[in-house]
Amino acid sequence: MSYAAIIGIGSYLPERRLTNADLERLVDTSDEWILTRTGIAERRLAGEDEATSDLAIAAARAAIADAGVAPEDIDLLVLGTSSPDHVFPSTAALTQTGLGLRCPAVDVMAACTSFIYALQHATATIESRRARTVLVIGADALTRHVDFTDRRTCVLFGDGAGAVVVQASDEPGVMGIDLGTDGSGADVLTIPAGGSALPCTPDRLAQGLHHVRMNGAEVFKFAVRVIPETTRRALAASGLGVDDVTWLVPHQANQRILDTVAERLGVPRERVVSTIANVGNTSAASIPLALDDLYTVGNLRPGDVLALVGFGAGLTWGAVIVRWTKGPAR
Ligand code: UT7
Repeated sequence: MSYAAIIGIGSYLPERRLTNADLERLVDTSDEWILTRTGIAERRLAGEDEATSDLAIAAARAAIADAGVAPEDIDLLVLGTSSPDHVFPSTAALTQTGLGLRCPAVDVMAACTSFIYALQHATATIESRRARTVLVIGADALTRHVDFTDRRTCVLFGDGAGAVVVQASDEPGVMGIDLGTDGSGADVLTIPAGGSALPCTPDRLAQGLHHVRMNGAEVFKFAVRVIPETTRRALAASGLGVDDVTWLVPHQANQRILDTVAERLGVPRERVVSTIANVGNTSAASIPLALDDLYTVGNLRPGDVLALVGFGAGLTWGAVIVRWTKGPAR
């Protein structure tokens, strides 16, 4: 059996910062409310000339350099995003040419769970020996879709990208995976207009239907239920238990979600990775960004067990258990 292992990792954050003080000038909010209700202090905004593919290219360059592979070694590019540059061509296609790659490239769209779904796609392709080396990217510029007059959503999101290079290996690597979707919860978190259901018209634009709409309380309840469930299922599929987890790397949406999940799963808080204060909710980028943070500060050791866990619109969720096989950070 061929396994899949992460051999390179990289990330990118745009330079422009948006602090809570900046948001206080835009909407009726306060630094104190945002910090205590979400844990977010600042987030990054893609520059006006930066699209999602630009963020993806920068993160992927770092991951490819970290892996030490040649561009021609990459057999497949899978890019998770829900803020594509265009409806088509795919953001993966634009990223592929930007990186000078020749391999097939495809977008995976599962909102904030997109990176987890993309990693599953890469793993399955490697395990079935249809590819040896796969570039997996999570990239989003969701601030492009946020209404900066809506205080319930505009304080939450930030832009960024993270990437990993996954390669065939004799040992895992990627272990158990659990994925789920429940489309009956589609209305809980949605960008209603701009697709084939509700094409953008002046009337719909005036109603703001092209912006993120969210029932925050429902998403919160969903997240704190589903993260422990999917984590336990992926661990069971790996023959492991919660006590075996070195690092829980959840989607970064709200510090209170992370705290509640730590308690429900019985994982010590210091084992739950949190980067939310400085980047906010970066959607598909959040898990690889958090993983890269762990890696670059030198907190990952070969043999560590990582539980990467996502949830988001769809509703979607999923967990991937990874045994870390790489040496210390570059
Ligand atoms: O990737 C997945 C994406 N989303 C999520 O994971 C979101 C999950 N949900 C959450 O993180 C939280 O539900 C929020 C942070 C969105 C909201 O926190 P909450 O504690 O659930 O607040 P709430 O929606 O119950 O609102 C409490 C109050 C309301 O005022 P009233 O009705 O009690 O007078 C809101 O209008 O807080 C008000 N409020 C704000 N006040 C100041 C909502 N947003 C803000 C704000 N600043 N930015």
